[in-house]
Amino acid sequence: MFNEISNDKVYKNLIHGEWVESENLENLIEIKSPLDGSLVGKVTAMSKKDIDNVIKSAKKAQANWDNVPIIKRVEILYKAADILEKHSNEIAEIMLYEVCKDIKSAKTEVLRTADLIRSTANHSDILQGESLTGSVYPGYTKNKQAIVTKVPLGVVLAISPFNYPINLAASKIAPAILAGNSVVFKSATQGVISALHMVKCFEEAGVPAGVLNSVTGYGSEIGDYIVSHRGINFINYTGSTEVGRKLSKLAEMTPLLMELGGKDSAIVLDDADLNLAANNIVSGAFSYSGQRCTAIKRILVTKDVADNLVSLIKDEMTKIKAGNPIHEDVTVVPLIDEKTAEFVESLIEDAKKLGADILIGGKRDKNLVYPTLVDNVTENMRLAWEEPFGPVLPIIRVKDIEEAIEISNKSEYGLQASVFTKDINKAFYVANKLEVGAVQINNKTERGPDIFPFSGVKDSGVGVQGVKYAIEAMTRPKSIVLNLNL
Ligand code: G3H
Repeated sequence: MFNEISNDKVYKNLIHGEWVESENLENLIEIKSPLDGSLVGKVTAMSKKDIDNVIKSAKKAQANWDNVPIIKRVEILYKAADILEKHSNEIAEIMLYEVCKDIKSAKTEVLRTADLIRSTANHSDILQGESLTGSVYPGYTKNKQAIVTKVPLGVVLAISPFNYPINLAASKIAPAILAGNSVVFKSATQGVISALHMVKCFEEAGVPAGVLNSVTGYGSEIGDYIVSHRGINFINYTGSTEVGRKLSKLAEMTPLLMELGGKDSAIVLDDADLNLAANNIVSGAFSYSGQRCTAIKRILVTKDVADNLVSLIKDEMTKIKAGNPIHEDVTVVPLIDEKTAEFVESLIEDAKKLGADILIGGKRDKNLVYPTLVDNVTENMRLAWEEPFGPVLPIIRVKDIEEAIEISNKSEYGLQASVFTKDINKAFYVANKLEVGAVQINNKTERGPDIFPFSGVKDSGVGVQGVKYAIEAMTRPKSIVLNLNL
């Protein structure tokens, strides 16, 4: 099935139902593995003119797609989920080389995505409209009635990041097409080959020509152009805050949904179950080398239990293996590129210079940063505030619950936070005060299950994701008002 999407490692794009090869084989983008630099494949460097054509075709296809019964769209999504699931091993193998994700996590991502697509299909009732009467409002009677339908927005631009090339692409594509939109999909360059395999699953399931299109190219050539294109009706983006900020300026009046960076804190109070906290914190901080927006990125622990917690975390960290993701038991893998590893190293060095204690790690070998635990981090250090997107965990010792809340909220980010305590009243007190999209009580920060709302405040995002919320975001209510004479 996947033979059609490439020719001798040169990958094609799905445009108006055809897998189209690059016209200029001299100008291809090479995707190399962060694992060993080997070539994973090459993709087309599309031009602005190519983008115009894709958007034009997506626009045309959308009008027809909107007329396809919702139940038929549901069937296609179920089929796409089954096809994706059937190919989970093949796709996970590609992810291993392309984004250096360990094979177990890669497979879990593909299977989780199949469930997400099915769950999206299960939520088709959201597309039911409603009927309203004016008579509940002062000055009106039941002579005025509105039939409110949910209509698609048009052409959705879906932009996914490298760290979840399948899941964070499908979480945009599936709700968009269920709602009757067409999609122009641009993956991060690293991750694009895995993503194109997923696109093939949707096509194979019967998504009609032009409803789902993939585009590839240099950000410098087509990045700004596509985001500011007037043919795009909605932008659904996951990635860095820096790019998100730029993108929202370029988008002008095009509505958008953005999931950006985070600096999720784990607040550990005096009465916490410290074993549970240490276990959750370590897996929350280090899985996929911390390259998750929801990774735990700082610990705020009250000083009376800090030493005990640190000792348990150190024990827990001895179980973490770092190295080649081909081995199932490896958690900390090489980072996506050497530049990221250098950045993570600079944060560690800054903290060290300003007096923090490196308890574990602090070493780097090219793009592999070994799991690092840094104690006595203070507010004057970059590590207290900046998002590493790497396997480094800072510990900030606080005097009490109030200081923990204050430092947590001082961050420019507001994605998620965890609070560890046995006292439900304290847990709710902290949760209510934290400026974040979600608070986990006695658990690590995480997005799943994918039906829950997922949102960030401040620099962590705009709008709400999660199956039903994403469908709602990519539709709008349209009213047809009856003015009767009863
Ligand atoms: O990297 C951002 C993702 O949305 C995080 O998802 O919590 O399932 O790892 P996750």
